[in-house]
Amino acid sequence: MKKIFVVGSTGQIGSELTMELRRRYGNDNVVAGYIPGAEPKGELFESGPAELADVTKPEQLAEAIKKHNIDAIYNLAALLSVVAEKKPLLAWKIGIDGLLNILELAKEHNCSVFTPSSIGSFGLNTPHFMTPQDTIQRPKTIYGVSKVTTELLSDYYHSKYGVDTRSVRFPGIISNVTPPGGGTTDYAVDIYYYAVRGEKFTCPIKKGTLMDMMYMPDALNAAISLMEANPDRLVHRNGFNIASMSFDPEEIYNAIKKYVPDFEMVYDVDPLKQSIAESWPDKMDDSCARAEWDWKPSYDLDSMTVDMLEKLRARLLK
Ligand code: SER
Repeated sequence: MKKIFVVGSTGQIGSELTMELRRRYGNDNVVAGYIPGAEPKGELFESGPAELADVTKPEQLAEAIKKHNIDAIYNLAALLSVVAEKKPLLAWKIGIDGLLNILELAKEHNCSVFTPSSIGSFGLNTPHFMTPQDTIQRPKTIYGVSKVTTELLSDYYHSKYGVDTRSVRFPGIISNVTPPGGGTTDYAVDIYYYAVRGEKFTCPIKKGTLMDMMYMPDALNAAISLMEANPDRLVHRNGFNIASMSFDPEEIYNAIKKYVPDFEMVYDVDPLKQSIAESWPDKMDDSCARAEWDWKPSYDLDSMTVDMLEKLRARLLK
């Protein structure tokens, strides 16, 4: 049985990924790694083991890996794009110095490693429509620079040392559980909260700006399926384009308005978020993920909207 370590288990993706891994592999086989100030709470805390796991402290990571006999690491420690732009040195320290610590330990203890990349790994001169798997990656944000480096370092540890590294380029992730903090795609989560509370939403992204997005259940499934995939079929490793929907603010607004007819949205464009959004793909081509490990999403904009509204209503309006 696999013993899994989730580093960053209380973050936007980690909090749900840890629970999904526990459902699939058994509660005791999935260790929730956290940093002080972001301790696991509620079900996440009660359902299985937890260990301090600051990605910048290799001794702390090593202790948890040895104690639990870990053989797979999901490394989710990172700052999102907008926060990273305000704290570039910290973004690098967590994203890259932290990744190096993880990769060195993975080499020593024979662990597989999943470290997400992102649509943020692309830049203005990347083809924006049906962005190919292998293409120009010259991002201008520190988030993007660290994501390209993540892909390269992960590939390097695979080809040089045989470490089983794998990753996907996540689109903006939309979830009804843990809100994101400081990303460019956060508006597509926030908008649902405003709709459910009956408030007018002020959109920080310009009408017509397309970005790839994905509902959390598909994102979790992507990470776990890739880590389970037959390595003989993998031509690529770090990281696969994965896509399920691409929309601009008007399209998500109209998708919500179908179920919340009085919902109102106005624009007040945030220049930093807008410039980052414009440098990212409009829509990625995910054919390599489909061919190499049978990636297939389940949700589109409409089915996600129905589920988001139902779950948020149940939680916020009780
Ligand atoms: N959701 C991320 C962000 O907006 C992109 O991967 O920063």
